[in-house]
Amino acid sequence: MSGNRTFTMLKPDAVEKGHIGAILQQITSSGFRIAALKLTQMTEDDAKTFYEIHKERPFYGELVEYMTRGPIVAAVLEKENAVEDFRSLIGATNPEDAAEGTIRKKFAASISENAIHGSDSDENAEIEAAFHFSGRDQF
Ligand code: TYD
Repeated sequence: MSGNRTFTMLKPDAVEKGHIGAILQQITSSGFRIAALKLTQMTEDDAKTFYEIHKERPFYGELVEYMTRGPIVAAVLEKENAVEDFRSLIGATNPEDAAEGTIRKKFAASISENAIHGSDSDENAEIEAAFHFSGRDQF
């Protein structure tokens, strides 16, 4: 059975451009409940650890630089079938391939600055939520 929680980050480009309100509005009006929320900034170590799976990829250095250049919004979201439904809501990694109306289609500039993160499995959702929030900050 699939879980009911996922983890997201509104990435530095989305925050810089002032899209926090619009994106959170689209998330909550799509049926997700916010279970944890904060504005924070990742350190270089944070970003390297969070994206460790990509450390051999050519875009890793650029990704770490981008994710640390300004504040992000981290959140835990709750909904039935959360991981899969949230991936549908944000759209494909490359906004050029993202479906109309998805968050990346509307707010992302490019594959490397793609506005938002969504966990890709229940297991990663739990790991990523715990990376940013203690148990007492999740409601
Ligand atoms: P990935 O986990 O493949 O995508 P998603 O965020 O949709 O789960 O990649 C993580 C991030 O790495 C992605 O959001 C943006 C960046 N990235 C690039 O900059 N270039 C690329 O070619 C890919 C695949 C990802």
